[in-house]
Amino acid sequence: MVQPDDFEAWRDEARRLVARGVSPDATAWGEPDGPADLFATAVLPNLPSDPLPQVRASRAFLDLARCVILHRDPTRLSLLYRVLWRLQKHPRLIEDSADRDVATLEGMAKQVRRDIHKMRAFVRFRSTPDQDGIERFVAWFEPEHRIERANADFFVNRFASQRWSILTPRLSLHWDGEQLLEGPAVSRGDAPAEDATEELWLGYYRSIFNPARLKVGMMLKEMPRRYWKNLPEARQIPDLIAGAHKREAAMIATGADLFEREAKPASLQAIAGGIAQCRRCAIGCNGTRAVMGEGPPNSDLMIVGEQPGDTEEREHRPFIGPAGQLLDQILGEAGVNRAGAYVTNAVKHFKFTPRGKRRLHQPPTAGEIDICRWWLDGERALVKPKVVLALGASSARGLLGRTPAIGRERGQAIRLSDGTLIWLTAHPSYLLRLDGDARTREHARFAQDIAGLAQILAANGVSQMQLQREMRVN
Ligand code: URA
Repeated sequence: MVQPDDFEAWRDEARRLVARGVSPDATAWGEPDGPADLFATAVLPNLPSDPLPQVRASRAFLDLARCVILHRDPTRLSLLYRVLWRLQKHPRLIEDSADRDVATLEGMAKQVRRDIHKMRAFVRFRSTPDQDGIERFVAWFEPEHRIERANADFFVNRFASQRWSILTPRLSLHWDGEQLLEGPAVSRGDAPAEDATEELWLGYYRSIFNPARLKVGMMLKEMPRRYWKNLPEARQIPDLIAGAHKREAAMIATGADLFEREAKPASLQAIAGGIAQCRRCAIGCNGTRAVMGEGPPNSDLMIVGEQPGDTEEREHRPFIGPAGQLLDQILGEAGVNRAGAYVTNAVKHFKFTPRGKRRLHQPPTAGEIDICRWWLDGERALVKPKVVLALGASSARGLLGRTPAIGRERGQAIRLSDGTLIWLTAHPSYLLRLDGDARTREHARFAQDIAGLAQILAANGVSQMQLQREMRVN
């Protein structure tokens, strides 16, 4: 049966009509749910026989059409057909953004892309036991357009190893770890209500809601009101906004940061659970898995990178991709055993921009690093390292709360108020981006900084033997 978001079916039908010379005025387009199960009804001219003329459609048009077909507006079909028809005479029509038809299609595509992005950001899974007792994550979502199927691959890739279902008023999607199945429409009442983690998440959201940073306009742009009803944290927003000015005044009066006044996480496990749920910033909402630090939980040395990369997100471990391998090598050459250190990142989720099938690293903003500092501080408070190696400016910001000039401040120990020493250097991926002499020079500088770290460790009673022992104990 042809579905209203079935681009290939629409394309085949549109091609057939254009090839037979059926002008847009002679067609009536509608959703393919009638008995004929076609998009268009048209009187076909009685042409003698094939071969029919070739139909021209640029890649740009096909890409745009693939997106626009997902729009809920029923007029999209006749509009697409009219543009395809016009393309036969004006093959470059689609490049003319001033053309009314093209501009309308681009506007529709933009709305669809935004809806796709919002679904990725605002789907909230709740844990429910499946018939066999195994956990299934179920979410309810109300898209504006017909984007569910087009978005399914994203969720399959992100949550490949878990069972999940996304229920919507149009259809439901079910992933069992191997196969994606489609089911009928579901009503809001059939979605599970709350689970044990929800209270934690709500408490966390209250705690990180910073009244001094409240910009209601920005918040509504990022999290439009229509999504609020299905976001557990959004139920609290009106109250939080109402109380924001009072809380801001209290913050100013006491000079206290409300963030700091919340109870710190009690264990590394609590942090692992917390970051998995964290949606405080856009990176947390991008559907990737948070990557927790790893290593001996009482190590005297903590190593902090910027954020997990593509490999780290997939494997769910910090610093195991190319930058991590280079780091291990240079640490080893200086006699520092990485396995004895607690290794983590300033930002817990992977920020990227998709490029075809690849995910290209994007640096986190200062604001995103500052938000994630809550978790990094929590890890530091629990592990209590004597020395922290900060790799690059983002890591340093996460630790110091300011962005230092790495060139000026690297290779020096900075003492925090609690006595911890921060040893600052460049990020190993910076070396990987260089070639030739520049790479040799920066490699030597980095190795020199790491040799300095080894000395600081020794001077603070953290011998290599101790790092080895911590590794064995854990
Ligand atoms: N870069 C980082 O900063 N951290 C990782 O975990 C991997 C690459």
